[in-house]
Amino acid sequence: MTLRLTVIGTGYLGATHAACMAELGFEVLGVDTNVQRIEELSRGELPFHEPELPALLRKHVASGKLRFTTSIQEAAEFGDVHFIAVGTPQRAGENAADMQYVDSAIASLAAAIRKDALIVGKSTVPVGSSRRLKSIIHDVAHHGAKIDFAWNPEFLREGFAVQDTLHPDRLVVGTDSPSADQKLRQVYAAALRRDTPYISTDFETAELVKVAANAFLATKISFINAFSEVVEVVGGDIRTLADAIGHDARIGRRFLNAGAGFGGGCLPKDIRALQARVSELGLDHTMQFLNEIDEINLRRRERVVHLVTEELGELPGKTVAILGSAFKPNSDDVRDSPALDIAAKLFNAGADVKMYDPKANKNAAKRFPRLNYCDTLPEVMEGADIGVLLTEWDEFKMMKPYDVEQQVKQKKIVDGRNVLNPQEWKDAGWRFTALGQRTEAP
Ligand code: UDX
Repeated sequence: MTLRLTVIGTGYLGATHAACMAELGFEVLGVDTNVQRIEELSRGELPFHEPELPALLRKHVASGKLRFTTSIQEAAEFGDVHFIAVGTPQRAGENAADMQYVDSAIASLAAAIRKDALIVGKSTVPVGSSRRLKSIIHDVAHHGAKIDFAWNPEFLREGFAVQDTLHPDRLVVGTDSPSADQKLRQVYAAALRRDTPYISTDFETAELVKVAANAFLATKISFINAFSEVVEVVGGDIRTLADAIGHDARIGRRFLNAGAGFGGGCLPKDIRALQARVSELGLDHTMQFLNEIDEINLRRRERVVHLVTEELGELPGKTVAILGSAFKPNSDDVRDSPALDIAAKLFNAGADVKMYDPKANKNAAKRFPRLNYCDTLPEVMEGADIGVLLTEWDEFKMMKPYDVEQQVKQKKIVDGRNVLNPQEWKDAGWRFTALGQRTEAP
């Protein structure tokens, strides 16, 4: 019998997981408390930008394999396997993760289940959560229902969410139940046939794999950005440095792109939540280095503000054109985006800030409505005293000095992602500065 799946929480992770599971042939029910979102998804409309996902969503809404509901009761009756994909945002004013959505999703689902079922957590949670959640399930479960439980962290990247879900580089399952493990092997049979590594482990390891991976990636980025600070003083070229150490297979070149640093809905909050969790465990010093990683990252944003101020002499009366507002290219997500943060800082310091992002204008305007949003690259550069590239969209990477020289007031550009060719801009008569390069006297 084919398993019927539900996915509770239809944000980035949940909507992607639901559509991909339908693509694998399962009947899937997506569940969310957000009525508007459920209506949009039911019409096959995706409320955020993610390549490949709209087509998959439309295909399976049309085929009937993928449906959406706001009813947890309906989910409990429908599903054999329930994936929990609700958010664990940073708690306001604290570093710790807010577990209220996971807790209430699992408690209400478990209380409504009347048959044998498996609940699988996918959200990123503090270590120790699974055991706590397992006992909640035990407390609320109907005596007629046998509910299995597993933790199966998700490693998908925005912009590659479909590929990462359909072709994961590994699967991690934490459980103490052989039948849970066996059911998940059934769910992931397609990946297992391709010999995708399947790591079957305990709850704590599964929870930690996710936060350890994100902490490592954040550390890599801040590591190279710390060297940017050195290069900015002594001279040298951060890209060449990253290329050269990246050739060492033990180090690897990926995630060594120096620039305005990391943002988004995961890396920043996950390293903070990890610190908060280990402190709770009495291990105050163990993850202290992550505080440094966070600080290096945030200092990059200050550095851009400083560079722009230096280049312009003063900010009031000057027009700054910001290229990009998403936290990374191929996404319309502006959560903790370095670009938007830098734009807001420049605005608050008195600059006239124009901003253009190929996909994220709308979300940026919701968070920071007072900037002057533009619809094209020439429009944002019109009248600019300086251009500041902060999200490395292809459109910006391919930009040539002569594409925008007619529009600008002053030929000044800051490369906040190290993606432009400095010589090309200098040869065209521009004043070119970048993160991770020493600024020459004007
Ligand atoms: C991340 C993890 O990669 C993913 O495995 C996890 O499931 C969720 O968190 P995501 O938030 O989509 O994914 O973004 P990612 O591609 O990791 O980039 C994070 C941030 O780091 C972006 O702001 C990006 O611009 C920045 N970054 C990345 C750098 O500054 N330099 C790099 O070399 C790489």
